[in-house]
Parts: sequence; C-alpha cells; structure tokens
Amino acid sequence: MKCVKVPLRQLNDARIELMEKGLMNMDYRIKAGDEFGYIPVNDNVKGYEIVCMHLEEMPKVPHSFSELLEGELTGEEIENLRTSFDTIGDIVILEIPDDLVDKRQMIGDAALKFTKRKAVYMKKSAIKGTTRIRDLEFLAGEDDSVTIHKEHGARLKLDVREVYFSPRLATERKRVMESVKDGERILDMFCGIGPFPIVIARNRDVEITAVDINESAIAYLDENIKLNKLKGNIESYCGDVREVSKSFNLKFDRIIMNLPGLAYTFLDVAFDLIEDGGTINYYEFSDSYEQGIKRLESAADAVGKKVEIVNCRKVKSTSPGEWHVAIDGKAYNK
Ligand SMILES: C[S@@+](CC[C@H](N)C(=O)[O-])C[C@H]1O[C@@H](n2cnc3c(N)ncnc32)[C@H](O)[C@@H]1O
Repeated sequence: MKCVKVPLRQLNDARIELMEKGLMNMDYRIKAGDEFGYIPVNDNVKGYEIVCMHLEEMPKVPHSFSELLEGELTGEEIENLRTSFDTIGDIVILEIPDDLVDKRQMIGDAALKFTKRKAVYMKKSAIKGTTRIRDLEFLAGEDDSVTIHKEHGARLKLDVREVYFSPRLATERKRVMESVKDGERILDMFCGIGPFPIVIARNRDVEITAVDINESAIAYLDENIKLNKLKGNIESYCGDVREVSKSFNLKFDRIIMNLPGLAYTFLDVAFDLIEDGGTINYYEFSDSYEQGIKRLESAADAVGKKVEIVNCRKVKSTSPGEWHVAIDGKAYNK
C-alpha cells in the first residue's frame, strides 16, 4: 500500500492537506508509529516521502457523517451541518456556517462519501432576485448541476444553478394535491419547474395553467410534462404573470401563489381571476397568520369580494421566529 511518511507532529496537517486535495486513499486507515505517521495515498504525492507498507483496510460499512469529520468538528457543528443538507436528486446542497467555511472542502468530501450522491455544492448566497435562485459553489464529486428529483412518484428535472426548487415543500405539495378535486381549473402563478402542477396532474384529472418568469424554469417544466404520466393537462406560459394573465379568458377554481416574499403584491390579479367559491393557496414569510389573513381580506374587499379563511399552517421555518406560512382562502362574490 502506497503511503506518505511524515513525522508524527506533522501527521494532522498532512492528513488535512491530502484530504483537501482528494489525494488520500480513504479505504485504508492512517497508521501512527512512535516517530512517524503513514497516510494512505492513491499515487505518488510531490513534496512527501512515499513508502510501501501494510495498512488496515477501512470497514466497508458506510461511514457516518460524524465519523468522517470526527476530530475536525465538534458534535454540535456536525449536527448543525447534517440538518442543513438539502438533497435534490443526486445533488447535495450544504449550508456551511461562516466559521467553518475554511473547512468546506473537507466537509464537502465527507458529505459526498456519506451520501454517495453525484455532487456536493455549498450555498454561497441567500435566495435572491426575481427568479429566486442562489449562488452555489461546487465542492465535491462531478460538477454537473442538472438532476432529476423524485417527489411523491413525480420526476422533476432541474438545474440547481438556474431555477428555484426546494425539496422541503414536498409535504405541502402533497397536502395541496390531496385537496384538489378532478375537474378543477388551476392557475399556478409562480410555478418554477412545476412541482405543484406535476404532482397534482399526476394524481388528478385537472386543467392547469402554469406561469413563471424564468425561461429556464419553464423549459424544465415542459420537459417534466413529458417525463411524467399525467392524468391532467398542463399548459405553460413564460413571463410576468401580471402581464401574461391578461390574455386568460377564463376563471380558475384554484390559484396557487408560492412566491412567499411578494405574493401579496399579486393578490389583485388572483382575486380578479378566481371563480366564485374558488380557493386561493396563498403563501408568505411571517411570524404569524394575521398579516396574511388581513392581506387576503383587504385584497378581496378592494374588488368587492369576500374571503373565508379555511386553513392556515406553517410550511417550514425560515429564520428564528419566522415561517413560510400557507393560508388557504375561499373567495366569494358579495
Ligand atoms: C419561490 S419560487 C416557487 C417555484 C415553485 N412554485 C416551487 O414551489 O418550486 C417562485 C417562482 O416565481 C417566479 N416569479 C417571480 N416573479 C414572477 C412573476 N412576476 N411572474 C411569474 N413568475 C414569477 C420565479 O421565477 C420563481 O420560479
């Protein structure tokens, strides 16, 4: 077995350097003698003495993430990292706190080994801009940001660098799908790659109009329509829903508004397009439901309609004290 031989006091630094450069052979254990340490490597490594010696093979059982980072991070740091994992198809996206950014390569390699996915990326910015995407830094594996995510039997193709997608909304999408009845005409005002429309149309015989301003998202939605066996029909439109919807000459039984930061500014469009008795699935970021309920009520009032709130729930936590909340309202003509 090829090893790098280093004085014992340099063992940890050498191990970190070799791991970071992806040169360490992770299938064998490092050996520490009285004066020297031996680190298994795949090939000759410049700047180090290379020797051949027998090293114990690593157990073939999958490593736990904690084991892979043992000695490098505290238990709490490892646990925080573990809860930051978002797995989208065969891609892992990690949120690495500022004080651990210097160790990102080691963390990325451990995440790749632990999850056995194709690629690991790190969040480099918050979700931003009209298209709600974030900057990502490639950390480990193969730098290919296109993947197919499976959700409730649906196949959702996307490029994690080009479109918004959150696997954390899967339960919410299922919940909405389960409340949909065959025959509904549905508008998804901010559809992205189409997770709501695809999950619903796989299970219900409905007519869905899906709009997004991001060209790439609509291109993936069009692919996703072909990738899935659908009971319902989905028609896609690319553009600003405020403009695009001017050409719609029908009313909808349900309108889905998952643009939580700004959905309230489109409530006038939604109340204009909703059928009498239709449901608005409204989302926003808030610490309570009151703000969203008031916004729905005043938007209804402004066009001479009323709204009955039928359900409110927390979809996911976004920051301490703030939630992505869902409010379902039925709109009625007065
Ligand atoms: C939070 S994402 C939600 C995507 C999708 N509904 C989902 O659950 O994955 C919001 C989407 O709204 C789109 N968007 C933002 N402003 C828009 C507008 N004025 N008209 C249409 N789509 C818009 C963005 O491109 C983005 O894909």
